[in-house]
Amino acid sequence: MMREVTVTFVEEDGTARVLAAETGQSLMQAGKDGGVAGILADCSGSCACATCHVYVDEAWFGKTGAPDAIEDEMLDMVADVRKPTSRLSCQIKLSQTLDGLKVTVAPTG
Ligand code: FES
Repeated sequence: MMREVTVTFVEEDGTARVLAAETGQSLMQAGKDGGVAGILADCSGSCACATCHVYVDEAWFGKTGAPDAIEDEMLDMVADVRKPTSRLSCQIKLSQTLDGLKVTVAPTG
């Protein structure tokens, strides 16, 4: 069953966007639907473009978990700065556990 969760994206200029999303969606989709600046998602969620790069809030990183090997490689190739809590938002599937999740959009260029 789909449930509603709340996620927060902090845009590059510091604007916090609080969005309602559904479980089962990817975090990237929620951001795109909400028109979050900097979530370009050029590859539509195939883990192949890294334009959906976000920094997960440290308090939440234990719940999102670390990237898998493919995502990890992709993150290594991104043009912007990689941080220990970097994730590709298309690879984060929203669940009830992630209700309240907060991330910061990585610089786009
Ligand atoms: S949308 Fe392309 S890697 Fe996430």
